[in-house]
Amino acid sequence: MRVAVISAEAVPYSKTGGLGDVAGALPKALKAVGVDSVLITPCYWQTKGEHLWKTAIDDLYVDWRGGTYHAKAFYSEANGSPTFLIDAPSLFHRDSIYGYREDHERFAFFNHAALTLLKRIGPPPDIVHLNDWHSGFGAVEVAAARRWDEYWRRTRTVFSIHNMAYQGGFGSEDLWKFGFGSDFARNAFAFNGYASAMKAGLETSDMLSTVSRRYAYEIQTAEYGYGLEWLTRQRANRLIGITNGVDFEVWNPATDPELPAHYDINDTRGKAECKRQLLERFGLPLDLERPVIAIVTRLTGQKGIELIQQAAGDILATGAFFIALGSGEKQYETFLQRLRDHAPRQVGVYVGYSEPLAHQIEAGADIFLMPSRFEPCGLNQMYSLRYGTIPVVRAVGGLDDTVENFDAVTGRGNGFKFGPFRADRFVERIYEALYAYADPATREVIRRNGMSIDNSWENAARKYVDLYRLTLSN
Ligand code: ADP
Ligand code: GLC
Repeated sequence: MRVAVISAEAVPYSKTGGLGDVAGALPKALKAVGVDSVLITPCYWQTKGEHLWKTAIDDLYVDWRGGTYHAKAFYSEANGSPTFLIDAPSLFHRDSIYGYREDHERFAFFNHAALTLLKRIGPPPDIVHLNDWHSGFGAVEVAAARRWDEYWRRTRTVFSIHNMAYQGGFGSEDLWKFGFGSDFARNAFAFNGYASAMKAGLETSDMLSTVSRRYAYEIQTAEYGYGLEWLTRQRANRLIGITNGVDFEVWNPATDPELPAHYDINDTRGKAECKRQLLERFGLPLDLERPVIAIVTRLTGQKGIELIQQAAGDILATGAFFIALGSGEKQYETFLQRLRDHAPRQVGVYVGYSEPLAHQIEAGADIFLMPSRFEPCGLNQMYSLRYGTIPVVRAVGGLDDTVENFDAVTGRGNGFKFGPFRADRFVERIYEALYAYADPATREVIRRNGMSIDNSWENAARKYVDLYRLTLSN
């Protein structure tokens, strides 16, 4: 089976969040279970490690806006599997990866260039695996092209929803410029008077998946469907939830190169050293008996930062340390900085993006908070489990699927969950986690339960292979 994975970001080439982690790891995992996979992603100005890639095609001519765009494609295996990076400097060499008025044009182009590249490099893929709104364009293009283009006739598409809240909306008048002038295409994009790339992907892909079982159900409801729940419901028989995995080559406390000390389920002593150095890094007192409560997150409404704001006083009153790494909305960044200024001996804050620090916090913290409003899958809670850090999460989406409430009687469970989006419920769970943490034997049981979970990508990759087979047989 030949599978082409198309994604707007992929580790180690680019990353703004979990999509990057997933798109970097999945092709490698597919390869490991015997699938011939190729990843295609843009080459951004932020894509580092030039020594790792070489020019594969320096004359990738892409039909674009009535003319021809002379792009290039680089080749790399830095993520552990064959990858082509589309190089189109005027569209992708910018200060940030997303956030431009013409993002829809940038990704419409990227999809078209990716499909042009596939045609250039070999026989058609059986499956084109598309991800999030950025690749809704590719779904429409393949669905349309296979009616008249022999190359695409047998190819099927799978569209994975990583986040329903971002839909890539733009003015329908732009559609014809990008080659989507046909009735078929215009109908696919049409949504409430404008064009939606997410809707087009949902409507025209052969099969849909999302990144946890619970989220597959949630996006069929008005609360989480963002206006597209009628469509996910309509296509529910083609929608499946497959929980993301953890890339153990990147996130493994026994080998993680970002950590000052290593540990595993049988010997967690190295975790104390990670904690010591984390406290030192933030200039906090080196009191290893006091628990460290942490967050690593994009600072957006999705992540439930309001609950952290409301709970902050209670958290500090317990005497625990609070360490935060995040960037995003100004109001939340300011809140974190003020909290640190208010209690500099108890709070450590890094506003910005730092891959090494994300690893060091997962290892050095004792309790990890994710009170998300919604969470399609969530990777940090899985990293926490892996790193022996107890997660306290809201029971939504993938958080609900991956964290099991700890039960002191049976000794089962790996974290603490709360339901309603309310600070008092959240604080209650934090207290319980602290209480459990305070008892070394209980702490050890919860840690072991978390660290022994097999949330490997291999498991998830096998489920994707089943999905691809099902797609091809339909
Ligand atoms: P989302 O994709 O919605 O942001 P996930 O939990 O799926 O949420 O993935 C977030 C990923 O981004 C994790 O790998 C996490 O470590 C990383 N991350 C988030 N914020 C930061 C930051 N400020 N610095 C470094 N890594 C971050
Ligand atoms: C999105 C979601 C997150 C998920 C990630 C990878 O960014 O917000 O929950 O883990 O995609 O699928």
